[in-house]
Amino acid sequence: MDKAIQDAINEQIKDELFAGYMYLSMSAHFENGNLPGFAHWMRLQAQEELEHAMRLFDYVNRRGGRVVLQAVDQPPVEFGSALSIFEQALEHERLVTGLIHRLYELAAEKGDWATQQELQWFIAEQVEEEDSAGRAVDQLRMAAADSAALLMLDQQFGARAPDGGGEAE
Ligand code: FEO
Repeated sequence: MDKAIQDAINEQIKDELFAGYMYLSMSAHFENGNLPGFAHWMRLQAQEELEHAMRLFDYVNRRGGRVVLQAVDQPPVEFGSALSIFEQALEHERLVTGLIHRLYELAAEKGDWATQQELQWFIAEQVEEEDSAGRAVDQLRMAAADSAALLMLDQQFGARAPDGGGEAE
């Protein structure tokens, strides 16, 4: 496969792993703050990011490319309030959406149709990711400083089930 595309996908594998690392750190933050429902939600999110990385890992290999893993930065340790954490998650998803779009543009520029098709799954997935983080931010804004409402939301987020993979969700 084209070297520039291969390098950019390798970079994206690292970015997905970093997102997973960040969500795992957010999960640890919630565990430490005795909000196990939000911790569970973030842990599942971290697993999804690992699946995103693996999807790209498999794709590079299927195309006969070479996966070169990059160093993953340390994520933040402290994140502030539950609302602020989900705001940061939403912000991060918007950033990732931008990265996926740039990658798609590169594939289009190089006339690499297979990579464009592969990336379409990620484009749809990012719509879902921004939607779920955005919804969480809205709900946490409504709960504002009401700790009873926050605990209710924690229970609700604790009921999140793992995604089955396959379709972007
Ligand atoms: Fe891999 Fe949250 O996007």
